[in-house]
Amino acid sequence: MSTQNVLTPYNNNNNLSLKNRVVMAPMTRSRAANGGNVATDELQGLYYEQRASAGLIITEGSQVSAEAIGYINTPGIYTDAQVEGWGKVTKRVHDQGGKIFIQLWHVGRMSHPDFHNGALPVSASAINPEAKSFTYNGFKDTVTPKEMSIEDIKRTVKDFQKAGENAIKAGFDGVEIHSSNGYLFQQFFNGCSNTRTDEYGGSIENRARFFFEVLDAMKEVIPQQKIGARFNPSCHGMFGMEVDEETIPTFEYIVKKLNDYNLAYVHLSEPFTDVSEVPFAVTEIAKHFRPLYNGTLIINAAFDQEKANKVIEEGDADLVAFGKPFISNPGLVARFAQNLELVEWDADTFYTAGEKGYTDYPAISK
Ligand code: PHB
Repeated sequence: MSTQNVLTPYNNNNNLSLKNRVVMAPMTRSRAANGGNVATDELQGLYYEQRASAGLIITEGSQVSAEAIGYINTPGIYTDAQVEGWGKVTKRVHDQGGKIFIQLWHVGRMSHPDFHNGALPVSASAINPEAKSFTYNGFKDTVTPKEMSIEDIKRTVKDFQKAGENAIKAGFDGVEIHSSNGYLFQQFFNGCSNTRTDEYGGSIENRARFFFEVLDAMKEVIPQQKIGARFNPSCHGMFGMEVDEETIPTFEYIVKKLNDYNLAYVHLSEPFTDVSEVPFAVTEIAKHFRPLYNGTLIINAAFDQEKANKVIEEGDADLVAFGKPFISNPGLVARFAQNLELVEWDADTFYTAGEKGYTDYPAISK
């Protein structure tokens, strides 16, 4: 039988050398130690170690500041304790021969005053996403956020930069900027959430400016080859996001401009929701964006072994990120190699506490 594409090593001649093309997608699991949002050796250390046969692990979104939080028990990367906690995780993954990037996250308006001592979450503009926020007191309606001042924007650029420095201190192989899924950067990109009239709103270039300021600040402290970025261009009907006529051109502009950089990768998602009837949305993201980007492209969302091998064979992506299959199959790579059945995931334990549904899925041998 011929070698499967996802199982072949990957080297982009740009410092990204992976033992296979199976990437563990970033996934919020809400199990960081409460009262500090710290990743722990016992839980996150074991969880990621069990999945270290992936070519690359991208961690769950991790807050770059206290202001960035929007979900309970999600880890951060801005305090010394958080850096120390993540240091234990990266060591365990490296000891298994794995590679691990941390996803740097700011949720913007997808938060709630409960997380901020009653203060408003921040966003590009004062527009309520009309969504739900998962707080320590259960799901609550989101509120109208505070429009970020120029000072807020500059401070947030620094927060990302500092988080990047912290990530390297914690031993990560790189960082992924979470500019996807309706969170802070996408709130700047999309017209539904950005009605600013200053240099951060209006034109496509202006709506992308904040992201590129963060990227430029990040590359002052981390080699570009250790920076990736994630985008969900056809994000619609989720977390308050809507696609309009300027949305896809905005992502085309961003992805093309990223050719001027020398990043580890660009990570794109196929639509999470059905956008077949949504005007201006693109349904085949890898096919649409591959010709626009010269560097390493990761594609994600609802791929199985067969589709993953095919997308690589057709040249529409270099690497494929798997989410839920990795939750219930820590040995996903070995299962692909041996063409074994996958274990079903239990959606009821995606965001619950402790080891159940987290570190207790069967290893390949069981
Ligand atoms: C989620 O918890 O549902 C979630 C978090 C981060 C994402 C997407 C979904 O990027």
